[in-house]
Amino acid sequence: MQAISIGLLGLGTVGTGVVKIIENHQDKLMHQVGCPVNVKKILVQDLVKERTVKVDSSLLTVNPADIIDDPEIDVVIEVMGGIENTREHLLNALKMKKHVVTANKDLMAVHGSELMTVAHENGCDLFYEASVAGGIPILRSLADGLASDRITKMMGIVNGTTNYILTKMSQEGLAYEAVLKDAQRLGYAEANPASDVGGLDAARKMAIMASLGFSMKIDLDDVKVKGITEVTEEDLQYGKQLGYTMKLLGIADREGDKVEVSVQPALLPSSHPLASVHNEYNAVYVYGEAVGETMFYGPGAGSLPTATAVVSDLVGVVKNMRLGVNGSTSITPQYEKQLKDDGEVNSKYFLRLHVHDEVGVFAEITSLFSNHDVSFEKILQMPLKEKGLAEIVVITHQASLSNYENILMELRDLPVVKEVKSSYRVEGSVSV
Ligand code: NAP
Ligand code: HSE
Repeated sequence: MQAISIGLLGLGTVGTGVVKIIENHQDKLMHQVGCPVNVKKILVQDLVKERTVKVDSSLLTVNPADIIDDPEIDVVIEVMGGIENTREHLLNALKMKKHVVTANKDLMAVHGSELMTVAHENGCDLFYEASVAGGIPILRSLADGLASDRITKMMGIVNGTTNYILTKMSQEGLAYEAVLKDAQRLGYAEANPASDVGGLDAARKMAIMASLGFSMKIDLDDVKVKGITEVTEEDLQYGKQLGYTMKLLGIADREGDKVEVSVQPALLPSSHPLASVHNEYNAVYVYGEAVGETMFYGPGAGSLPTATAVVSDLVGVVKNMRLGVNGSTSITPQYEKQLKDDGEVNSKYFLRLHVHDEVGVFAEITSLFSNHDVSFEKILQMPLKEKGLAEIVVITHQASLSNYENILMELRDLPVVKEVKSSYRVEGSVSV
């Protein structure tokens, strides 16, 4: 088999790693795919920028057509980011019968279905392992390793930036803003970190993962999203005191034919395997009816870890080329999407209230909960510095989301309640 030629779109953090792995692992690649793999052209914005990897300047171009229209290029690796222009480039590449590997979750969460259809129509592969959880081979594990099972739950810490922030706030008592700056300096955060801290980056990854794991077309709009911007030091400390750890958690849950996909700060029992995933690390907990509990752990971002996933996808493409089976994977979801309504989403909740410290307050709150058939699992009550006020922290037993939201609404109207300070889902009980 003659050498495989790659066109690389982007030579930033991930692109640099891709070039390094292709160079440094040439023997291994040769052994895996049976032919040399060469980077023929690289699309960048700035031809004279200093790079952290040595590449011949003749490889660089600012013209996408130098890659898309080159008949000698077999595979396009997209690591430039962005959505609309990038979609155009990849659609054109696929129509030119080039296989595509991408790390772009922003693009795949929105246009993945269209791109996969066009890939299939053109007999091309479109692989996107690096788009979810960087170096963790989670998509291949869902598609191949667990192909025989029926997955009912996936919970993921799939954003490194927010996990880094929550870890540093919780373990070292550092302030949110300072840790966010640190995460940006270390290169974990997106160019606009609002998508990290607001939960959108994790939501994109959960939409991709849930679509694959549940074989259902889950759109980004189907994912309920809440970020970590309102999480306070007090919430983290009370959580700890009650035996829980706060994580920005992606939850994809299936009961019968119905699913729920969300991203939110949630409390996990400190003994849960996801609770010990710290700093910028990612992990995905997967429950399958036959396999039971599994967990995938590793670096969710960074140059070489992410590039490992990209180049492994490239190996998959070239192996398929040898077998002549590119573009043959079924892309039609097995199931019609059916989303749970709020009455079908069940969970425990953490609730922190400021109340007037008077006789009968507790009875009023308890009776409001019992009117909605929700009982308490744990309760803390503390006096506050502000005279005449007390703080109540509650962990409920299981409640439906609609029931719980009615409780919150009624609590806000209760004269004895000064303020509902915070409320989080509590996950990780064994009832998966
Ligand atoms: P990055 O460091 O900002 O690099 C982007 C590269 O693309 C740069 O080389 C840039 O050229 C080039 N580029 C951007 N827009 C371009 C345009 N319009 N035309 C031509 N070239 C363009 O980004 P990254 O961190 O490597 O991320 C790349 C992709 O991987 C993104 O989709 C990201 O979400 C995904 N991803 C990243 C990570 C990670 O850890 N960084 C992890 C998983 C997935 P110049 O160098 O000339 O500016
Ligand atoms: N900003 C992302 C994160 C990069 O923090 O996880 C990897 O997708």
